[in-house]
Amino acid sequence: MNVVASSAALGKGIHPLILDDIVRLMLKVNSYYTNAMEGNPSTLKDIDAALNNQLAKDKASRSFQLEHVAHIEVQEAMLQRLREEPSLRVCSKDFLCWLHEQFFRRLPEDMRFARTLGGEVVPVEPGRLRDRGITVGSHEGPVTRGEIERYLARFEELLSPECLVGAPKLLGWASSHHRFLWIHPFSEGNGRVARLLTTAYGIRIGVGDNMLWTVGRAFARNRADYDRHLALADRPRRNDLDGRGPLSEEDLIEFCTFFLRCCKDQIQFMDGVLQLGELERRYQRFIGALETEKAISKAGGKLMRRLLPQGAMPRAQVLEICGVKQRRATQIIRELLDAQVVRSETPYGPLRLNITADMSAALFPSLA
Ligand SMILES: Nc1ncnc2c1ncn2[C@@H]1O[C@H](COP(=O)(O)OP(=O)(O)O)[C@@H](O)[C@H]1O
Ligand SMILES: [Mg+2]
Repeated sequence: MNVVASSAALGKGIHPLILDDIVRLMLKVNSYYTNAMEGNPSTLKDIDAALNNQLAKDKASRSFQLEHVAHIEVQEAMLQRLREEPSLRVCSKDFLCWLHEQFFRRLPEDMRFARTLGGEVVPVEPGRLRDRGITVGSHEGPVTRGEIERYLARFEELLSPECLVGAPKLLGWASSHHRFLWIHPFSEGNGRVARLLTTAYGIRIGVGDNMLWTVGRAFARNRADYDRHLALADRPRRNDLDGRGPLSEEDLIEFCTFFLRCCKDQIQFMDGVLQLGELERRYQRFIGALETEKAISKAGGKLMRRLLPQGAMPRAQVLEICGVKQRRATQIIRELLDAQVVRSETPYGPLRLNITADMSAALFPSLA
């Protein structure tokens, strides 16, 4: 399986606007998995609620919801920068610190802390490299700020996608995930930043730039394997045949193999759930169930059935499709908005598919 080609082939036959709606869902899915790995128990439903400003009463749950809102906003800001700044270097210290800064400054105060080696709780300054030692598993990261800065400079020099051509780009992509985590430049948030970096790097090398799958799902679902492979690649070089740097090249290649296997699994999984014929059938079933439960009317169902192949629906079209007058059309639109199955950017804007947690569970079983 060719990762680049099979990633690019995803979503064939699906309307481009619906693919955009799926990308919106994937931002939530990314956040769900990457934060779940760091102990955030929110469900996709909790994330939807948070995005609708419905925050839990209990403070801890609320903070977890806000962590997702922060993460989704950072992804959006990151995608915008990647679009607008072709010269942006994803492996640069500036970019990595920017990701950390963007995420942590959006977090509620009670989540901006780290535990030191001695167990002391210290505040995390958004975007700031650490200046004390850290351990993760049995790995001890470089200690001083100077050392961290030197490793980050080497990291950018050796692993930037801009410096690599052809197949080494994929190895650079996978290696950068580990090497960044080996440096572990921040006192907290390294896992989240590493996974954001991986998304950005993938976009730069044209793998997963459609944002229709996420390797983070594999990391989270195979957490023990992920940690084990990271730990294996922390090991020093064994002999003269094991690369030239301080760390084992053989173990790094093993990590890259694991990483790329995770990518393949995820592309395959998404390819399965995005097969148009099956997707349409699941969609029909979902809309049918909403009608049966009377969550939407028959007229609403009719509109929903048109929305999938059409991608978007100008509000004026509702009159024509349902053969009703303006007043009734407005009612039907309101009913769909209230059921949260459609959304609209502006009060008079076209209707778009809103892939909530419930819809996602029906359309893309076991995605999150
Ligand atoms: N042995 C290891 N070597 C390097 N990185 C590791 C190792 N084990 C786990 N990790 C990474 O460290 C991350 C945790 O670091 P941390 O700074 O707490 O990040 P976050 O706050 O995002 O959880 C994990 O998500 C994983 O990506
Ligand atoms: Mg952590």
